[in-house]
Amino acid sequence: MTTRIACETLRRKLMSADAAAALIHAGTTVGMSGFTGSGYPKAVPLALAARIEAEHAAGNPFRLRVWTGASTGPELDGALARSDGVEMRLPYNSDPEARDRINRGKMDYADLHLSQVAPMVWEGFLGPLDTAVIEVSGIRADGSLIPSSSVGNNKTWLDRASQVILEVNSAQNPLLEGMHDIYYGTALPPHRVPIPLLRPDDRIGQDSFRCDPAKVVAVVETTAPDRNLPFDPPADVHRAIAGHLIDFLGHEVRKGRLTPELLPLQSGVGNIANAVLGGLLDSPFENLTGFTEVIQDGMLDLLESGKMRMASATAFSLSPEGAARLEADMARYRRRMILRPQEISNHPELIRRLGCIAMNGLIEADIYGAVNSTHVMGSRIQNGIGGSGDFARNAYISVFMCPSTARSGRISTIVPQVSHVDHISQDVQVLVTEQGLADLRGLSPKQRAALIIENCSHPDYRPALRDYYRRAREGAYGQHAPSLPGEALSWHQRFMDTGDMRA
Ligand code: COA
Repeated sequence: MTTRIACETLRRKLMSADAAAALIHAGTTVGMSGFTGSGYPKAVPLALAARIEAEHAAGNPFRLRVWTGASTGPELDGALARSDGVEMRLPYNSDPEARDRINRGKMDYADLHLSQVAPMVWEGFLGPLDTAVIEVSGIRADGSLIPSSSVGNNKTWLDRASQVILEVNSAQNPLLEGMHDIYYGTALPPHRVPIPLLRPDDRIGQDSFRCDPAKVVAVVETTAPDRNLPFDPPADVHRAIAGHLIDFLGHEVRKGRLTPELLPLQSGVGNIANAVLGGLLDSPFENLTGFTEVIQDGMLDLLESGKMRMASATAFSLSPEGAARLEADMARYRRRMILRPQEISNHPELIRRLGCIAMNGLIEADIYGAVNSTHVMGSRIQNGIGGSGDFARNAYISVFMCPSTARSGRISTIVPQVSHVDHISQDVQVLVTEQGLADLRGLSPKQRAALIIENCSHPDYRPALRDYYRRAREGAYGQHAPSLPGEALSWHQRFMDTGDMRA
């Protein structure tokens, strides 16, 4: 396996995962690689979790602050959550066990815009970073590191950490080498300069991470696949959402506001975003590009079909079947994909300059267009805001999409007032459900409300929403965006009390 480690100095630091985990101390902060189930360390976190459990059994408290790129895999988030070893987690999580601990109040969680994490670390707001644990796909003779299937915050962790532990994963495809673009030109104000990226396919950095070999305290070899979870197969609702969106984009082309190549596409995480992207396969658009956070199966399909020319992201987020397809054809795909640090893939300056079309999922939207992407019933976190805020605020067109109902139809995703706000109405330009699409650009709050209720809400809930809105226009304190706040929030209480919003 050591053929992946060409640097003699670092090869001398090879050890077991247990020995490496023993170098991490209680009460410290660990920055791990990993982004949506790809490129996370597979062995050291498991060894660390076992060690934490042993320390707890011996009566010794052992908790850590854990930073990553975004979500990771069960060997990291799941194992550490189970060991009760995480005091604070950031900036994004989708692991069910970690989610459960967060929602039971047993683990602190800071849900951050993903583009802001690296700058915040440099600014010092998050405190010092003691250890970086980074998966790489190889180490070159000069000690530079070949990234693996995600880039995330690895550049920052490697630069900032006092000590570095490397996992060299020989299960990662060697053809990943050369696919990455690691930009070292970011700085803090007042020294910031424009980022010289003008098109999604521009390469502005280098293809490897630099790393001071003196900081590397351990190198561990692994051979384990990423966590690749299947997506739900596209359902009729997903196809309907994709259909409305394609009609809308076609309308924008006819109006001359977009060309048939559209603009660089960003597609969010989750089943719906994946299915909608897949729907673009049957669209009339050609020569598309992606400037996005993750490459999901839907984007792979677009690349494979030739509909999409190239995609820039920070990570793969593929199903097992998608990962196998990528693996089998890596030589072809690698020329059309670029993986970058998440502070670049999600950078507001670049999203605004390129004019991305952002398409993200949501938990609920209100009749004025504000969106809740994160909190079920206002308090229970599902995943986190991820990159949706980075993209929605700065996109050329910001689209949010979801089925009009959740939980087998018992909940309306269109509500009088969202129970938690992630995206204010100014950041939500287009709202789509399987019922239809509301183009909210340039509309007043009352015009938005009428359109959202009539075009996007489910017929089962439309009468209740119309009734609420009528009474709000009669009885609200102000008539700019009429609302009855007490009643709007009790809408959610209805589901809690009866298990059905229609009741
Ligand atoms: N009330 C209660 N639960 C709801 C709900 C609502 N209004 N809307 C969705 N849910 C639940 C679903 O029931 C499902 O629960 P389950 O996992 O227990 O079955 C879960 O939320 C996921 O919903 P799903 O319909 O499968 O949608 P998805 O996979 O497309 O994910 C989000 C939707 C909002 C969770 C997801 O898009 C997300 O995490 N977004 C925030 C981050 C983001 O946008 N990142 C992209 C930036 S590049």
